[in-house]
Amino acid sequence: MKIGVLISGNGSNLQALLDYFPGEIVVVISDRPALGLKRAERANVKNRIVSDDAAMTLALEAAGVELVCLAGFMRLLGKEFVDHWHNRLINIHPSLLPQFPGLDTHARALEAGAKVHGCTVHFVRLKMDSGPIIGQWAIPVLPNDNSATLAARVLQVEHQLYPYCIDKYSWS
Ligand code: GRF
Repeated sequence: MKIGVLISGNGSNLQALLDYFPGEIVVVISDRPALGLKRAERANVKNRIVSDDAAMTLALEAAGVELVCLAGFMRLLGKEFVDHWHNRLINIHPSLLPQFPGLDTHARALEAGAKVHGCTVHFVRLKMDSGPIIGQWAIPVLPNDNSATLAARVLQVEHQLYPYCIDKYSWS
């Protein structure tokens, strides 16, 4: 399956996908200069900075992309883009949705006293961090966790959940 990945930052999830699906990630797009673009470069994957939705669709289609994966992509996508890629556009979010959509999920989970936290892979719909859930991975919140330690442990399971869910998607 030809996969396109959209990023805005470090790209550790992108790295997990590059490692798990060698040859299947055909293009990486960032909406801003990002460390993750170097990861694509190192893996010899076409990569570019594109900041508007229509140009992103053109670039993804030019690469023959069948599935678009958001991996730390921070810009909200417009209706046209989301409709165009309906059910071919997925995201990973660092909480057990529908709890804690949006930003600062780890701090908010701690503040709420959550005993379980984790991450979710889901189809993208126009409303942020909504959409049918493909898979989730729950981890315990430890008594001495702070948002950095919790974020690091969630990120580790994100790197396993995302490839697993994409495999599951490609079976369906
Ligand atoms: C991850 O926690 C992801 O769930 C969220 O943004 C973070 C991106 O991290 N959407 P990275 O760029 O993949 O390292």
